[in-house]
Amino acid sequence: MPIRPLVVGNWKMNGTRAMLSEARAIDRAAQRIGAVDVALAPPYTLLHAVQAEAEQISVGAQDCSANDIGAFTGDIAASMIADVGAKFVLLGHSERRQHHGEDSALLTAKCRQALAAGLQLILCCGESAAVRDEGKEEGFVLEQLQAILPQAGEFSSSVSEVLTVAYEPVWAIGTGRTASSDDISAMHNRIRALLVTQYGQEQGEQVRILYGGSVKPENAGEILALPDVNGALVGGASLSAQSFMGIVLAATGSDAE
Ligand code: PGA
Repeated sequence: MPIRPLVVGNWKMNGTRAMLSEARAIDRAAQRIGAVDVALAPPYTLLHAVQAEAEQISVGAQDCSANDIGAFTGDIAASMIADVGAKFVLLGHSERRQHHGEDSALLTAKCRQALAAGLQLILCCGESAAVRDEGKEEGFVLEQLQAILPQAGEFSSSVSEVLTVAYEPVWAIGTGRTASSDDISAMHNRIRALLVTQYGQEQGEQVRILYGGSVKPENAGEILALPDVNGALVGGASLSAQSFMGIVLAATGSDAE
């Protein structure tokens, strides 16, 4: 079965209510394009408002707590994210790993909370420049991902409906540098093999693997045409409807420029 592409915008710590018009424009354009699944992860403060604008796009959070509701000042539980109608959560983003020391044990607990709340997961992985310079990126990324992949039995519906993986080399995030097509293909191919081992041929082949790291309308066509690249996780270029939709258009196979 061909995989429907998914393009996710991660607004990170950007966006005030003034950005709701961009979210609306993205939603309306996504309706017109149709052939691509489009999603936005705004900051928590905008989650409810963006969800209220969304007729076509899927809306999700950039993180969730490893705990259920209770006395955890400043945290947001997965069940609270689901309560505002959001559908997914990003987990394991390199900025969370780096700035908040998130490790595999914590991320595993977050995954469990998200699954219990009925949220879909977008699990991020990626190597630093130092790891790539040593030539150890494949082993590093596969180990990082394997450590947080839920067991098949933890999913209440089919794995591929709930799980998406995003490969984002840390040195490509927000830097304007992208991995070469060969490097992206090689890594996505290895991730696909891991997913097939973990979940079996039928499910493992249907899980979407996104590429992230300085994806823009200008480079999206080439990246999204690579085998085993089923979409993109986009930071900076998702803050404007015009550039984000250029990437979504590229995912249809049409010319983005
Ligand atoms: P970028 O961010 O597109 O700004 O490089 C990607 C990400 O961190 O998801």
